Amino acid sequence: MNHKPVLLKQTISSLLFRKSIKKNTNLLEKYSLIKQKGSFNGIFVDGTFGRGGHTKELLSFLDSDSMVFVFDKDPEAIVVANDLAKQDNRVNVIHNSFACIKEELYSRNVNYVDGIMLDLGISSPQIERGERGFSFMRDGPLDMRMDNTKGITVSDWIQKASLNEIKDVLSNYGEERFALQIAKAIIAYRDKKPFTSTFELSECISKAIPIREKCKHPATRSFQALRIHINNELLDLSKCLKSSIDLLNPAGVLSVISFHSLEDRIVKKSINSDLLKQNVYIDLPIYAKDIPEPSMRSVLRIFPSKEEINENPRSRSAVLRVSQKSY
Ligand SMILES: C[S@@+](CC[C@H](N)C(=O)[O-])C[C@H]1O[C@@H](n2cnc3c(N)ncnc32)[C@H](O)[C@@H]1O
Repeated sequence: MNHKPVLLKQTISSLLFRKSIKKNTNLLEKYSLIKQKGSFNGIFVDGTFGRGGHTKELLSFLDSDSMVFVFDKDPEAIVVANDLAKQDNRVNVIHNSFACIKEELYSRNVNYVDGIMLDLGISSPQIERGERGFSFMRDGPLDMRMDNTKGITVSDWIQKASLNEIKDVLSNYGEERFALQIAKAIIAYRDKKPFTSTFELSECISKAIPIREKCKHPATRSFQALRIHINNELLDLSKCLKSSIDLLNPAGVLSVISFHSLEDRIVKKSINSDLLKQNVYIDLPIYAKDIPEPSMRSVLRIFPSKEEINENPRSRSAVLRVSQKSY
């Protein structure tokens, strides 16, 4: 199963044309200029390598002195990344969470980078392969760990969690309005027999929900919530965003593709300098002109085109936020 990269051209343009991007820049137009420009140089990070769609596209425009550091939690993604690194010595592979971006780069004597991209969530191979336990559409062990070499599976977590813990996860990370009913049904089931498969859980959730949403499987929100929880996704994201601000060179760019509103809100709050100003300085008795410029400014927010959504339905909920370090 291949993974079709989302918002590929726009993401790569944002990194390569970082010095000239403005609020009204059309990144697709910029992309069409890449070939005329010759090759580009820089040190970049792909925090979510997956199957390497974004990394390979970036590499194709970089000169031989450039470097790309690629992260993934998933051992299967790391196998693909290591194969790429064998053929291309600009690629440096790191099997770890992007939450550790600063520590990992510092330990390799890399203190600054020119661009960082994150394409959040899970890849098509992860969701398509039932044995990874991410999908309510495919039966498999109830796992959902991106890094299945460590941590606990969803099945083990459910077995030990309290009613309130399950309810809070479903409600906070899945925005599931039937969180309490579902949590009660899960507890009643697991007290008789541990959940071992994704189908067992999705059936239990479906039965607990009194209504049906059009074109949406009843277990969608709960599966998203459990995946976010078991992989510590939101905390990892905010740690990475904080470190990225320190790691970027002046005019360096952070480009993040998110797929649901929780992720996007974290990205927006971390990078939006206007919000930063309001939150940090609103109560201080000083003039706006005396306030130091925040270190990041939000530049662009881009959605996939209708054509991209038709070609790749997975892109329909994507949003790319591009922000830039002040210079
Ligand atoms: C949507 S896919 C990326 C696809 C990639 N851009 C491509 O074109 O092939 C997300 C990938 O990021 C990885 N991932 C998600 N959160 C991560 C984290 N905190 N640290 C490292 N990798 C992560 C997942 O394991 C998955 O392989």
